[in-house]
Amino acid sequence: MEDVVETVLIPEDKIKERVKELGAQISKDYKGKTLTVVCILRGASLFFVDLVRELDLDVRFEFMVVSSYGSGTTSSGEVKIVQDLAKPIRDKDVLIVEDIIDSGNTMSALTKVLQAREPASVKVCAFLDKPSRRTVDFKGDYIGFTVEDKFIIGYGLDYDEKYRNLKDICVLKPEVYMK
Ligand code: PRP
Repeated sequence: MEDVVETVLIPEDKIKERVKELGAQISKDYKGKTLTVVCILRGASLFFVDLVRELDLDVRFEFMVVSSYGSGTTSSGEVKIVQDLAKPIRDKDVLIVEDIIDSGNTMSALTKVLQAREPASVKVCAFLDKPSRRTVDFKGDYIGFTVEDKFIIGYGLDYDEKYRNLKDICVLKPEVYMK
C-alpha cells in the first residue's frame, strides 16, 4: 500500500499522543457527566475507537452514517441521514466524533439537525481540520491537527474507499488521483 504514499504527515505515535491529549481534555470538560459519543461512519471509525478508550467518563456509544449534499448543489447546507441514532438525545450531552472537517457542510448541517432534538449540548471533536477548504462558517470544539489542503489518506480516511486502514495519516501521491 505504501507505494501510493507521498509523505507521512502524522505518524502513528503522534496520533496516539494527540488522541490521549484530546481524551484528557474531554474527560476534564465533561467530568461527572454522561456523554453520548456519536461516531460518524465510516471515516471516524478508527479515531472513535481510540478516543473513547481515553475517556474517563460514563459514555454511551452511537453511530451515524451521513452524507452531505455539498456546496455545489441547491441543497447546500443539508445533510442526508443514511443511518440515524438508535436512541433519543433529548437532555443528553452529545459529542460528535468526526475524522475531518473540510468544507464544513457536514458538521454545520448535522449539528443543526441534532440541536433540533433538544439535547443538553452538542459539540464536535474532529481529528483533522482543513480550514482552508471552508465554504460555510463552522468551527469544531476539539481538533486533533490542522492540516493543509492535501489529499489525505489513512487512519480512517479513504481514497475511493481504499487505504482507510493505514496506521499513519499520509498524503496520497497526486498521480494516484490524477490518473
Ligand atoms: C467525509 C468526512 C466528513 C466529511 C467532511 O465523509 O468523513 O464526514 O466528508 O467534509 P465536509 O466538511 O466538506 O462536509 P465522506 O462523505 O467522504 O464519508 P466517509 O466518512 O465514509 O469517508
